[in-house]
Amino acid sequence: MRMRDRSRIIGDQSAKEPRLHPGVPHPVTGPFKQPIGLFINNEFVEGVKKQKFDVINPSTEEVICQVCEGTEEDVDLAVKAARAAFNGGWRETTPNERGRLLLKLADIAEANLDLLAAVESLDNGKSITNAKGDVGAVVGTIRYYGGWADKIHGKTIDVSPEMLNYTRQEPIGVCGQIIPWNFPLLMFAWKIGPALATGNTVVMKTAEQTPSLLSSSPSSSRRPASPGVLNIVSGFGKTAGAAVSSHMDIDKVAFTGSTPVGRTIMKAAADSNLKKVTLELGGKSPNIIFDDADIEHAIEWVNFGILYNHGQCCCAGTRIFVQETIYDKFLAAFKERANRTTVGDPFDEGVFQGPQVSQLQFDRIMGYIESGKSEGATVETGGERLGNKGYFIKPTIFSNVTPDMKIMKEEIFGPVCAIAKFKDAEDVVHLANDTNYGLAAAVHTKNITTAIKVSNAIKAGTVWVNCYNVLSYQVPFGGFKESGIGRELGEAALANYTESKSVTVHLGKPFPH
Ligand code: NAI
Ligand code: MG
Repeated sequence: MRMRDRSRIIGDQSAKEPRLHPGVPHPVTGPFKQPIGLFINNEFVEGVKKQKFDVINPSTEEVICQVCEGTEEDVDLAVKAARAAFNGGWRETTPNERGRLLLKLADIAEANLDLLAAVESLDNGKSITNAKGDVGAVVGTIRYYGGWADKIHGKTIDVSPEMLNYTRQEPIGVCGQIIPWNFPLLMFAWKIGPALATGNTVVMKTAEQTPSLLSSSPSSSRRPASPGVLNIVSGFGKTAGAAVSSHMDIDKVAFTGSTPVGRTIMKAAADSNLKKVTLELGGKSPNIIFDDADIEHAIEWVNFGILYNHGQCCCAGTRIFVQETIYDKFLAAFKERANRTTVGDPFDEGVFQGPQVSQLQFDRIMGYIESGKSEGATVETGGERLGNKGYFIKPTIFSNVTPDMKIMKEEIFGPVCAIAKFKDAEDVVHLANDTNYGLAAAVHTKNITTAIKVSNAIKAGTVWVNCYNVLSYQVPFGGFKESGIGRELGEAALANYTESKSVTVHLGKPFPH
């Protein structure tokens, strides 16, 4: 891989102030007052305990700013505000008005696309080009659900001339939403879009690694209408996150993140008020290349499938299965392609891969690389960090892997993949399904019958044919098996945020007949 503009990453060690980038207001001297606040009941607040935590720039390992830390007490205040809003004004808001507010939010995000993308890049380390793509998808998602707000319909069901039966899709109530750091603003949009469109109110817990965009200065004067409809609490999982999942007055919890934390959240929901649970968890997705595929295109998609967002995608194509007849040729070309990936300063327009999000994630990934080596897999390329400052890891390909190796079983969440051979369709379906996960998969072939048969046989919520990582807000997304419960996006997500009520009206003779 090429290291772009290395000097900007390795940095001038004598610099005292964190160096920022054009377009990003300086967090200390800029319009933001430190620390950056929680958003509860339409106020930017410091948090009950007045604690704060540092936000780190993953490219430089320097502190960007400080954010107020929400704790159980703040979650409780946010829930009270959300409950009051649900029982008060928001419930009475017409669907049309809810839709209009979401469309307005989408317009505001669109008008500020460059600024939002810049903060996202700074916070998360993702390339500025990808960050702009994320914000574009945020705008599209919120607009899409704004359009749904006045199209949530029940049914009438004819059971007898003496009865009128109809159903209503009612909001669930106060929804807790816990989001991760890999797509901070996009996960926010995926969650609030369907929740608000259907008339719920929200308590959002952002990820501790990337709270910046969804916090704001306590001095800020730009506040939306409808106090309490949307509350945002920055903070840690074991405190603020746990308070959301165990709260007795939250009616539903939606989570995106790791499978172990998903289990913890489900247990907390079961042990508290049996709140509804939807989960979007990890993956170990297979990417399958048959010998009749367009190899040049397949290599581009395979490379994109693993290195996009630095491998920090729940649907990353981490297990690459290549038909044995083309394996050697494919591996050589894929290695060459991976090595051409530009890794470096995410603000450089030519860079594709930035740093991993945090020291902890960097250490976890390096641990998996060590485990692959010690279990006997072959490092075809990469296998080490890049530079000595910032959490950069070289694109890494392992071969000579066996299904029992840790790197073939566990989610790595970094620019690390494993490549293996298969014989035929039957063989590869077995290999692809040999995992506890079931989020996504891809099949590359020119044969339509192979494409459809293999897609149908794979146990995963999304299958891509001759592409990878192509998500649309109109299309449902979510996991089979241990990859989750429920579907986000599309019309499917509306079901996660509504309760169906059946009303039966007796029209016949008065009781008793
Ligand atoms: P995590 O699952 O711990 O964090 C995700 C969110 O859950 C964060 O907001 C966190 O504060 C919150 N959380 C953590 N513990 C909690 C608890 N006990 N109760 C309630 N909320 C809690 O993920 P983490 O530690 O950031 O990353 C670990 C691994 O998880 C990654 O290496 C990756 O494999 C996976 N992951 C998957 C994601 C996905 O998109 N499905 C996103 C992020 C991580
Ligand atoms: Mg964690």
